[in-house]
Amino acid sequence: MDKKNKTLGEFVIENQTSFQYSSGEFSRLINAIRLACKVVNHEVNKAGLVDILGAAGDTNIQGEDQQKLDVMANEIFIQTLKNREIVCGIASEEEDDFITINSHDELHQNKYVVLIDPLDGSSNIDVNVSVGTIFSIYRRVTPVGTPVKLEDFLQPGINQVAAGYIVYGTSTMLVYTTGHGVNGFTLNPAIGTFYLSHPDMQYPETGKIYSVNEGNYIHFHQGVKDYIKYCQLEEEDRPYTSRYIGSLVSDFHRNMIKGGIYLYPKSSMASNGKLRLLYECNPMAFIAEQANGKASDGFTRIMEIQPTELHERVPFFCGSPKMVEKAEEFMARQRDRENQ
Ligand code: AHG
Ligand code: MN
Ligand code: MN
Repeated sequence: MDKKNKTLGEFVIENQTSFQYSSGEFSRLINAIRLACKVVNHEVNKAGLVDILGAAGDTNIQGEDQQKLDVMANEIFIQTLKNREIVCGIASEEEDDFITINSHDELHQNKYVVLIDPLDGSSNIDVNVSVGTIFSIYRRVTPVGTPVKLEDFLQPGINQVAAGYIVYGTSTMLVYTTGHGVNGFTLNPAIGTFYLSHPDMQYPETGKIYSVNEGNYIHFHQGVKDYIKYCQLEEEDRPYTSRYIGSLVSDFHRNMIKGGIYLYPKSSMASNGKLRLLYECNPMAFIAEQANGKASDGFTRIMEIQPTELHERVPFFCGSPKMVEKAEEFMARQRDRENQ
């Protein structure tokens, strides 16, 4: 079959055996995520329209507030996963604590936990700019048949069995990995089907894009400042181009396709940066590494960090391998200077 005619459903079935814990459970999990993603996509697409209709119709006599889209996306993903009883626990950016899922017979037979950022880049919703969803899947470490515990969620990224993101952009794409490369599927909205549009995605070895919120420049570590100046220098293949959307998913997606580096470093205002290790950096790091890229906190591989809290933050350097290595060189050089 022409690769481009392959649907996500067909792809999942065909590749079930390459998933190391092949059991059909994972296929059902991906199916649930695909479904939730289509519902969220529908809500995201009509975000501006709902306001227009509300203002014109003036019919909401119940005084219902329009739910913020990130709360709505959170509920859609949680309900979809809960109803299908395919995971034993969920952790979300929007929930203070993790959620325990009781299976029908109350025996908690499911093996997987999911961590999600239901709506990433939410500051872009109101202005019709791409947003996303990020998910990360682990096998629980506590025994099946017992309620999940915090330790099931606080696993280093190297334990991930799958990770992915959805970008609600000019088209909607679902990109995921199970540790056998990265594949991207584009939604045909007319029929609600995802097609394999980007098989075996790979970062170019190097690129010409750097993505960082330069508004925070004066608060950055000197190593980051030096690297940014390096990106701007007129030398060899530089200056690079600066591109920053402010939605991690969208910035990452562009850089993976075109070649580039994404930086969210720590600063004097945010001692560990802004991005969350468990449901932003780890899944993106897994995808990056599976696509020939790299992800670190400037010094250490992201996926080897042992998490200690559900919502902990970590500096994030991610992208084309040569560019991440170069940024790490600047960080190490500065650290050596400080240690002298
Ligand atoms: P979220 O909307 O899930 O809270 O994530 C927002 C994150 C990320 O998507 C983006 O890259 C970053 O925040 C942007 O932060 P700044 O506005 O500080 O640049
Ligand atoms: Mn986010
Ligand atoms: Mn979010």
